[in-house]
Amino acid sequence: MLHFKILTIFPKYFASPFMDGLLKQAIRSGVLSVDVQDIRDFSRDKHRTVDDTPYGGGAGMVMKPEPIVAAIKHAVEDNRSYRVIVFSPKGKKFDQSAARRLSRHRNFVLVCGRYEGIDERVPAFYADEELSIGDYVLSGGEAAALVFLESVARLVPGFVGNEESLVSESYENGLLEYPQYTKPKTFEGHDVPPVLLSGNHREIEQWRSEQSLKLTEQRRPDLLDAAKKYHHNSKTMETREKTN
Ligand code: ADE
Repeated sequence: MLHFKILTIFPKYFASPFMDGLLKQAIRSGVLSVDVQDIRDFSRDKHRTVDDTPYGGGAGMVMKPEPIVAAIKHAVEDNRSYRVIVFSPKGKKFDQSAARRLSRHRNFVLVCGRYEGIDERVPAFYADEELSIGDYVLSGGEAAALVFLESVARLVPGFVGNEESLVSESYENGLLEYPQYTKPKTFEGHDVPPVLLSGNHREIEQWRSEQSLKLTEQRRPDLLDAAKKYHHNSKTMETREKTN
């Protein structure tokens, strides 16, 4: 069972993402639960203020610590041992290996910032980590929280029906995934690569690894070092298994 509490000033943002596909199924089958909490509900003034001007001056507004921290404290009250995560563009990089690391946890509080940022005392003293989903700036952490939730949830056993499909996906072996094809054999004059129709599983596998490697070299050479380490480790594992 996976449990997410999302703290946001835009709760309606999360209305549709859980109404379709795997997330909907997971909620239905009781594998996943999601609570969305409006940070404004934890503001103590009649205008439900959540932001203020920055100390030291500068443009824009900063999210005040009091309502967010009150919301975090309320969220963790049930003592389920939560991982509290703040999303911001200056967080540590969230990638597939971070997703794998975090998929060991079962309960999460996801804090979505808006405006120019959140008072630094929130990530510093009330969160376990501050994460960025990539080197671009969003107008808030809401989209980041969804990206996080979806990529972590699908790594948890029991979430994706077909566990094997996880293994051959992009990033799981450190490389981009090989190209996939389905019927028809010829589409508007474009043929499926003949090797895939050969029925020769060894050749197909070899073609797929070559394609994976070629694609990664062309598009994401930055991934190659990490992928080599992965392959080295899995070779060492194989040798160990054989000798044992
Ligand atoms: N909020 C704004 N931009 C973000 C990003 N790139 N990652 C996470 N949270 C954000």
